[in-house]
Amino acid sequence: MSRVDRNFLLGSGGVRIAASILAADLSRLGEEVKAVEEGGADLIHIDVMDGRFVPNLTFGPVVVEAVRRSTRLPLDVHLMVVEPERHLESFARAGADMISVHVEASPHLHRTLRAIHALGVSPCVALNPATPPQMVEWVLEEVDAVLVMTVNPGFSGQEFIPQVLPKIQWLRDRIASRGLPVAIEVDGGLNEATAPLAVEAGARIVVAASAIFGSPDGPARAISRIRESAQVAARRGGGR
Ligand code: DX5
Ligand code: ZN
Repeated sequence: MSRVDRNFLLGSGGVRIAASILAADLSRLGEEVKAVEEGGADLIHIDVMDGRFVPNLTFGPVVVEAVRRSTRLPLDVHLMVVEPERHLESFARAGADMISVHVEASPHLHRTLRAIHALGVSPCVALNPATPPQMVEWVLEEVDAVLVMTVNPGFSGQEFIPQVLPKIQWLRDRIASRGLPVAIEVDGGLNEATAPLAVEAGARIVVAASAIFGSPDGPARAISRIRESAQVAARRGGGR
């Protein structure tokens, strides 16, 4: 575990692509992770679901530990669980470099984010599509990234929700006006067509599962298509 460099997350030198293992062939997890690393992914995104905060059940710390042994890329652990504070230490110990907790799941958000920081991991806060961005306004000083969900969390392969775009712009403007080094990460329904929309609005970290692991011509091509379309949009968005 280690905190991820903030300039890297802010996208200096380019948009970051996080490959979400939710759509990987889990019978070959180690090879799948190596393939996206070789294919140019910047981060590995791990979706932890508890069957309560979201309907689905997925991975725990043992899987994070297994991924840790398969790659040197930073591990971006997205907790879609109730009472996330109960699990921070075990995910940090398993090798998480970033931990995102949902604002909807954490009533004492400030304390939870401080706890992540104290574990030496990058603290991040996630927001569901229906949650107003003002909910995280007063914890922006505490986070390295805000993870804006562009689908309702729970499953991969869902459609991007465009109503989330003004929320990304709002966050970008608030972060810029307060001069804070906070990156915006987007997650859900992202591919070469939708990633540019989110990046133009201000996102610099793009999470993708099905667009990468489900790509007929392989993960490397998929990653470079998403990256190229997103880079063009980053320039259009004014490099902010
Ligand atoms: C959704 C997860 C996402 C998911 C994205 O609940 O948080 O990270 O893996 O999957 P795609 O890219 O297929 O929408
Ligand atoms: Zn996710």
